[in-house]
This record gives sequence, C-alpha cells and structure tokens, in this order.
Amino acid sequence: MQSALDPAGEEAAQVAKLFWIMVVAGGLIWLAVVGLLAYASRRKRGIVGEQAAGRLIFWCGAAIPAFLLFLLLGYALWLMPGLRPFAPAGASGALTVEVTGEQFWWRVAYRPAGSDTPVLSANEIRLPVGERVKFRLTSTDVIHSFWIPALGGKMDLIPGRTNRLSLRATRAGTYRGQCAEFCGISHAHMAFPAIAMEPAEFDAWLDARAGPSQGVAENSAGRELFLREDCGDCHRVDGTQATGTGGPDLSHLGSRLTIGAGLVENDVETLARFIIHSASVKPGSQMPAYTKLSPGEVEAIALWLRGLQ
Ligand code: CUA
Repeated sequence: MQSALDPAGEEAAQVAKLFWIMVVAGGLIWLAVVGLLAYASRRKRGIVGEQAAGRLIFWCGAAIPAFLLFLLLGYALWLMPGLRPFAPAGASGALTVEVTGEQFWWRVAYRPAGSDTPVLSANEIRLPVGERVKFRLTSTDVIHSFWIPALGGKMDLIPGRTNRLSLRATRAGTYRGQCAEFCGISHAHMAFPAIAMEPAEFDAWLDARAGPSQGVAENSAGRELFLREDCGDCHRVDGTQATGTGGPDLSHLGSRLTIGAGLVENDVETLARFIIHSASVKPGSQMPAYTKLSPGEVEAIALWLRGLQ
C-alpha cells in the first residue's frame, strides 16, 4: 500500500529501478573491493613494483571509482523530475489536481481541462489509470510534503509557492499517501488514500462529485443540527448553505475511505467521536470540541454526514 518498491505508477517504477541499479552497482563494487582486499592480505609483500603500485592506485583508486560514480550520478540526475518537462510530450494532461497542505490535512481541488469550476474535496486523491495527472502543490501554513510512494517521488508544499508534480498511475488500486516533511504534532497522522481508478470509472466519479451528493437534501435531524451549530462556518457541504473554507470540504464525505486525513476508518462511530472531541482522535486538530451536544445529536450529525455519498 505504501511501498516505493512495489510501484503502481510510471514515476515510482523509475524510482524503484534506480534503487535496484544502485543496490546492484553498490553490491558489485563492494564485492570487488572486499575481493581485492582479501587477495592483497594473502599476498607476500614487496612483489609489486613502485610504478605498478602507482598505476594501480590511479586506476583502481581514482579513475574507475570516479567513472562509476559519474555514471550512477548522471543516471540519477537524468531521472530527476525537475530536469524533465512538466508534461512530457504526448501527454494529454487533461486533469490538474491542486493540493494545499494544511495543519494537518489536505485541501484538494480537481480541475478537469476545459472546466472553470473546480471540484472541491479533501483528504483523498483519485486519479485515472494510464493518464498523466498534473499536481499543483502549495501550503498555507508550514512546509508539508506530498508523497504517494507507490505512484512516484515526493514533492514539498511550500507557503507562497506552487510546486508542480506529474504522476501517471499504471495499475488500479488504493495506495497510501503520506506527508513527508515534519509539520507539527500530527505530521505522522497527515496521510490520505490515493485511489487509481479505470478512466471511465473515474470520469463517472468526478461527474458525480461536481454536484451535491444525493443525501444532502434529505430533511434530517443531522442536517438541521449541522447547520444550526454553524458547522458551515468552517466546512463546506455542496448543496447547503454551509460554505466555510477553513476546514476540510465535507461534500460527499460518506464516500471517502477515511476521516482525519487517512487516520481512521470512516464510519458513524468514529465520525461521532471526531465531532465530540476531534483532538482526542487527532492531536493538533483545530476543530473545537462539541461536548455541549448530546450523544444522540452527535450521532444524528454523523449519520447525515456518512450519508453524503
Ligand atoms: Cu504535513 Cu507533515
């Protein structure tokens, strides 16, 4: 799920290949050096002339190691995304995903080509298999780092700057992404599921996400409480008057795999725990505790949110 050595994307495959080339090359060099050392320690002294020794040191001690290191370094530098174009030639680059790092969650906006209205989401990334997806990465508070090991290398999210990353998933599946730059108390809890879907499935998913979820209009106690308690000051739920942007977007929350940014499973019970005292589930969460609500009221809100498929 989170292994750079089990690649499910083009970039991750390159990283894995580089790793194995380095391991094999390093191993061969180590074997050669240890072999020579063993050979030298068994050989009688004084047999090698001064000139021959000098040549040996020049070739085996300087020229050959420098050449091998130059080759390996050159290959590694050539793989660096910064040295390649953002969208390689021939890539359609139909979809751009904007990801903003927050303490300690991910703000996500999908921008399909030719569409002015972004599809807003949080704490989960979905992308079509086989298509190159561009990421625009930034942060509002401290430096975070966006990393889906199974799909590609990491890229920092830096306040006041937009970094770019381009990924192409090659195998459908659910992988784990993780913040890879220490950003505060819940840094380790700043994760997200990354789901690579078949293109047709992804298009249908994105179409559905572009509008309000089905359960949103249902006149339930949970919906009423959510709006009465001003949850909408921080959270947006498409199709309601909740339009806050301080916290994660909760439209379609019920269809997400996790809550708390990849931290816990998304079910009514954990949602209720999160609402009552979010910091007990996720240290450093800025959402205030809602201990004034009765367990029944909290459950009603959680039920409604879980129904936002
Ligand atoms: Cu965000 Cu570490």
